[in-house]
Amino acid sequence: MSGIPAISVNNVIKSFKDVKAVKGVSFTIKKGEYCALLGPNGAGKTTLMEMIEGIQNPDQGEIIINGQTWKKNELEIHKILGISLQETNFFDKLKVGETLELFSSFYDLESERSNEILDLVNLQEKKNALVKNLSGGQRQRLSLGIALINRPEILLLDEPTTGLDPTARREVWEILFRLKKEHNITMILTTHYMEEADYLCERIIIMDKGTVLADGTLDQLVAKNNGAEIIEFSIEGEASNGFKLNDEKIKMVRDDKNEKWKITVDDIASTLPSFLEEMKQKGIKIKSLECRKMTLDDIFISMTGRRLDE
Ligand SMILES: Nc1ncnc2c1ncn2[C@@H]1O[C@H](COP(=O)(O)OP(=O)(O)OP(=O)(O)O)[C@@H](O)[C@H]1O
Ligand SMILES: [Mg+2]
Repeated sequence: MSGIPAISVNNVIKSFKDVKAVKGVSFTIKKGEYCALLGPNGAGKTTLMEMIEGIQNPDQGEIIINGQTWKKNELEIHKILGISLQETNFFDKLKVGETLELFSSFYDLESERSNEILDLVNLQEKKNALVKNLSGGQRQRLSLGIALINRPEILLLDEPTTGLDPTARREVWEILFRLKKEHNITMILTTHYMEEADYLCERIIIMDKGTVLADGTLDQLVAKNNGAEIIEFSIEGEASNGFKLNDEKIKMVRDDKNEKWKITVDDIASTLPSFLEEMKQKGIKIKSLECRKMTLDDIFISMTGRRLDE
């Protein structure tokens, strides 16, 4: 029954005393889709993930996984989910191989499965290392390995690469890519890193303050934000506090943090000459100028006035 969505989240609400952590979120994830839940600290990502994972109950709304609900089909759902939490405590005195064997035994799996996982997450050479001696990246891969042990159809990963350096992060990405290609897994991962969402996931859901701000492919999100390209520049002298361009169609925003101006345009090549000409006529000297594609960070700023990492 491939027509059934992998995950449906229908108008889900969750509060903790006076904190409204998730305020009516809805979305549907198709089978085989890789979706990033992107948002700053406190956006409600973990709370939402834990409700999908059956760890917390929504106050209102409904979560359906593969056509089933936690209330009625707990065992069936557990069989198809692979979960990695934002913070995982392993048994530090166990070796990597022993840890995987322990988790295999929870699922009644053959012990050969732990060897397959060591291959899958590139930890074969650490089989006999104590878990407490693993590097941050190796620990995250072990955590991913544990999530994969029961051959899940759906992976739910809460910040699988936070705190990792670019090389270690890339290693995790490569594993996730391979899983998509070879096993058609469905995945939701939460992240603060826009590059991660952009690189790994065809679908991006931006959350802030408990609600969904945007949902779609990167191209769709860019299209909703008046343009696809950005000219970012800084200028010398008094005008740096404020000035206007004649073309009213151009949206100009000043970022006080780095004292730069930003214009969003459809096409840099056709806008840049008239922009430079106008700056010259106004007698404004440009200190720096960068032309680039719109990023998820630009989209987040235009929606909230804040940066993703603030
Ligand atoms: N068990 C809890 N008790 C009280 N408040 C909570 C609890 N869990 C989460 N919250 C609050 O709910 C809001 C959302 O938290 P959540 O952990 O879901 O955010 P997040 O998007 O995962 O953030 P981060 O990126 O920092 O992990 C926050 O204001 C948080 O303080
Ligand atoms: Mg979180």
